Amino acid sequence: MLLLTLPLQQQMLNDNFLQSVTSLICNKTGIKIRPEDHSSLLKKIRRRVQSLKLKDELEYLELLTSRSRESKAEWDNLIGLITTGESYFFRDRGQIKLIQEHLLPDLIEKRQAQRTLNILSAGCSTGEEVYSLAIIIKENFPELDNWDVNLVGIDLNREAINKALQGIYPDWSFRGVENRYRLAYFRRQKAGWQIINSLKHRVSFRQCNLVEDDLYFFTSGAIDLIICRNVFIYFDRDKISLVLRKFIDLLRAGGYLLTGHTEMQEQDTTPLIALSYAESLVYQKPEDVPMQIGILNSPTPTVPLTNFKELGKQKLSEGLYHETIEYCTSWLNLNPQDEEAELFLAQAYANRGQYKEAEAVCYRVLEKNHLAVPFLHILAHIAEETGQKAEAKEYLRRSILIDPNFVPAYLDLIALHLSDQEYSTAAKLLFTIKSMSNSQLIHYQAQVYTIENLIKNFCADRG
Ligand SMILES: C[S@@+](CC[C@H](N)C(=O)[O-])C[C@H]1O[C@@H](n2cnc3c(N)ncnc32)[C@H](O)[C@@H]1O
Repeated sequence: MLLLTLPLQQQMLNDNFLQSVTSLICNKTGIKIRPEDHSSLLKKIRRRVQSLKLKDELEYLELLTSRSRESKAEWDNLIGLITTGESYFFRDRGQIKLIQEHLLPDLIEKRQAQRTLNILSAGCSTGEEVYSLAIIIKENFPELDNWDVNLVGIDLNREAINKALQGIYPDWSFRGVENRYRLAYFRRQKAGWQIINSLKHRVSFRQCNLVEDDLYFFTSGAIDLIICRNVFIYFDRDKISLVLRKFIDLLRAGGYLLTGHTEMQEQDTTPLIALSYAESLVYQKPEDVPMQIGILNSPTPTVPLTNFKELGKQKLSEGLYHETIEYCTSWLNLNPQDEEAELFLAQAYANRGQYKEAEAVCYRVLEKNHLAVPFLHILAHIAEETGQKAEAKEYLRRSILIDPNFVPAYLDLIALHLSDQEYSTAAKLLFTIKSMSNSQLIHYQAQVYTIENLIKNFCADRG
């Protein structure tokens, strides 16, 4: 029998553990831990084992592979230890110039009819890349002020995403950047330089794993420009290929993919066309490749893509308001302009009796679009529920002024006047809706009515 000395036994245990943990990391995140970094990884994990008061590294492995909330939280910790989040503003001047002078003008020309641009920064770290793009767009493309420009940053690292959301940066993030940018777009705070709100509102961020998650963020579906820089340098080759297939699938025909300069070496980029500019290589999806939203191309496994808004709508109709709120909030993080999702969210809050939250949603939508009648209608209901009848009437009157055919507002207003014994006003309003065309179908309290039936039911309910 072969007898092993203790140090040798320990070495074998370490090797086995490292092999297991590094392949687990690679499978989950795509990140390949280099052999020269193994001992430092082992040290970091041992510190985690100690602070979690676990028996040994094997128990740590069990934690990572379990399906628990603790496991998810520990992955967040581990990811913080193994990812490199180095980033700064206007990091690659050549590529920024390329985006400004060629890619954006071309996309703007192509998207004139839809007036929508979807831009994704994949592996955005603490957000400098995304805010740099927002600045470029603001300074050079004022015509986009009236477009629906979705600028989304995603990253695996939760802490990095939280920092991006805060938008406060140290001087170091501005290295090599002309001072005028800092003065124009940031405000000095104790903790650093804070991005101004008008730019902050133009972007959104989300924690997301390029390897495991679907990347279906945009209401309008396809992506016009994907920037994924300094991410694949840490990746396993097969995982780059998997993520690349997702990118190709999600790009709009004619859309662009920009990566770090050598990050696509040895990758099969078909059907993308490589365009060589002085500043950088860029990949373009040809115009005639059919898009396959919802299904990824082989050889990667197919992943169903989730539309959180649709799920939210479904849960709302099932009376599952908590779920509606969760789904719609996730959706809105990425699609902050989506009024319909805001409506589901406001309805769910109101139906749960969370009036303050529902009102906050309505106010933020009305601030952007003061003609958003359904939100005035929700505010009217909340005012009525909370005993503020005069306010409720005011919201309903405003709804009718904006949309004179919005019958539900008339009915609610009539009911309020009747309860206050203001019969002549109620009768006038009733007369107005009676004169509307009966071919119009009205959605009221989850039913569909003709005007005549609606008035009959309404009057019958009130004797
Ligand atoms: C060096 S930073 C790049 C930041 C920025 N793109 C730039 O070039 O300045 C790499 C980022 O990729 C992120 N990352 C690594 N693996 C990822 C994955 N599977 N999904 C999403 N992000 C990932 C890391 O968390 C890290 O923030």
